[in-house]
Formats: sequence, C-alpha cells, structure tokens
Amino acid sequence: MYVCLCKGITDTQIRAAVADGASSLREVHSTLGVASQCGKCGITARDIVRESLNDMAENDEQLFYALT
Ligand code: FES
Repeated sequence: MYVCLCKGITDTQIRAAVADGASSLREVHSTLGVASQCGKCGITARDIVRESLNDMAENDEQLFYALT
C-alpha cells in the first residue's frame, strides 16, 4: 500500500530499505525520501520501520534457536 503519497513510497519499499540496513525512520527518510514533503506519512512510516525491525529481530531469534 502507498504510505507516502507525496513521494509515491509503499510499505514494501520501506520494508526493503530496513532489510537493506536502515534502522530508523531517519535512515529510511535519507534513503527513500519518505516524509520529506508534507510529513503526514511520518507516523505510519515510523510504525512500519519498527514493525520491520521487530520482525527481523524475531527471525534472528528463531535462527539462533535453530542453530543451538
Ligand atoms: S505523504 Fe509523505 S511527505 Fe506527504
């Protein structure tokens, strides 16, 4: 779904940016330009970044347990 209508950025693009190493809304902003115009998407974008980071942490935890 589109998160940032001003820049045409989707949640998939935000999740991909996090998977590529972005670890904050600021870094996603630098990479994609999300929330760089009206800013109305900032809260939703921040929530998606946090959700993506949590998902990645859970996956790392599961991998850790699978290896032990
Ligand atoms: S909707 Fe993202 S900057 Fe306007």
